[in-house]
Amino acid sequence: IGATSDPCSSIYAGPYAFSEPETRAVRDFLLTNRSTLVACITFHSYGQFLLHPWGYTSDLPEDHEKLMFVLDHVVAVIQSTTGKQYTRGSSTNSDSDQLFTDEAAGGSDDWAKAVAGLPFSFTFELRDHGLHGFLVPEDEIEESGREMFAALNELQSAI
Ligand SMILES: *[C@@H]1O[C@H](CO)[C@@H](O)[C@H](O)[C@H]1NC(C)=O
Repeated sequence: IGATSDPCSSIYAGPYAFSEPETRAVRDFLLTNRSTLVACITFHSYGQFLLHPWGYTSDLPEDHEKLMFVLDHVVAVIQSTTGKQYTRGSSTNSDSDQLFTDEAAGGSDDWAKAVAGLPFSFTFELRDHGLHGFLVPEDEIEESGREMFAALNELQSAI
């Protein structure tokens, strides 16, 4: 769902699961080390969203409220750090009417939660809302880093 078998497409799923060395390395890292891990964060551009699973279905995970509680803290700390407003929700049910209303299967966030069993798995979609899209101005790079650093610190204390 949300991917294609066309190798010329930007949403090509690959010939089979874990066909690429990079995804195999992430898989092996998480499976080998999962007993010492509680969270897995995937950074992505763009949209200013803080997303939790699932991406492959619009159903919500059982611990949806706990995940939203943690993301509420992260939204607040980003707001007080740089003033930016992030939107939180599941990949298919965010508060926003922009993007992520479509299901997209095969994301590492779903896999880290469902298969590796990490309780907290999120995708942080960085700035912006689409004005600059993938090419945010240079003078926003440091600010973007500051708010994400604050987000990770807050996440660590909130979980
Ligand atoms: C597990 O973590 C250790 C240290 O954090 C790392 O050296 C090792 O490569 C990891 N295992 C895998 C398979 O990536």
